[in-house]
Amino acid sequence: MRHDHLIDTKQLSRQDIEDVLDRAAEIDADPAAFGDRHAGKLLGLLFYEPSTRTKMSFETSIKRLGGDIVDMGSVESSSVKKGESLADTTRVIEGYADALVLRHPSQGAAKMVSEFVDVPLLNAGDGAGHHPTQTLLDLYTIRENAGLDDLTIGIMGDLKYGRTVHSLAHALTNFDTRQHFISPGSLKLPRSVRYDLHEAGANVREHTDIEDVLPNLDVLYVTRIQRERFPDENEYRAVAGDYRIDLETLEDARDDLTIMHPLPRVDEIAPEVDETDHAKYFEQAHNGIPVRMALLDSMLEDQ
Ligand code: NCD
Repeated sequence: MRHDHLIDTKQLSRQDIEDVLDRAAEIDADPAAFGDRHAGKLLGLLFYEPSTRTKMSFETSIKRLGGDIVDMGSVESSSVKKGESLADTTRVIEGYADALVLRHPSQGAAKMVSEFVDVPLLNAGDGAGHHPTQTLLDLYTIRENAGLDDLTIGIMGDLKYGRTVHSLAHALTNFDTRQHFISPGSLKLPRSVRYDLHEAGANVREHTDIEDVLPNLDVLYVTRIQRERFPDENEYRAVAGDYRIDLETLEDARDDLTIMHPLPRVDEIAPEVDETDHAKYFEQAHNGIPVRMALLDSMLEDQ
């Protein structure tokens, strides 16, 4: 990949994406062959927001490449608590590490930091903005299960605040896909994302009822209603619990429908769905390792 930093998926071409996915497939086939590729390299983790999968899979990935982490730890236990600015913290930690991973509650935080750090920076989620590394593992999962061209995908749930949605929708414009967005009116895609998709020539439709599109879908990407991003708790309560997938909903789905979710899920997918062949969300989470290994491998290559 030509880029020093990975901030959003708008910067990725189809070729960039395919290079990462192809390398991830190579790693998946023979992980041991990559075991000492980056011996001695250190990845700096700056997580200002909770994370399980993203943080642990970055840690696992760098270790499986022979490297290690330096971790700022939780905001509660770091100097952030003393009022240190994001700019100062990242400037210091870039001196300890060969690349940085940043998760932050403010949209635009990764972009801001990328303007003054020299080591590669990976955006691991900036508020309701973007989450490009999640998108790469989503695309890997889609490619394995349904293929990325001639794809009809439904993206459902919190389209307003869901950063995984914003990043995925944009990346999919590199492929021949029809995107159906399903959400309550109050959680529709932000205008800026819709504008970008339009500019990229995306084939996009918006719906409020999953029943309207379910029978046509190859992939259904379900997301969590993001309570922590709602300015108003009452607004959250008004929509939480809608848009749930269970066995009854799936009666109208195609037999080969792939169901994905970036996780964590709350109530959006009934546990009974886990036992069906549709459920690919745990496989999707596991794909975080080869995909993040591939990404780190390519970004650290020239370091
Ligand atoms: C997502 C996130 O943090 O944006 N989780 C993840 O990284 N797998 C989705 C979410 O929190 O709902």
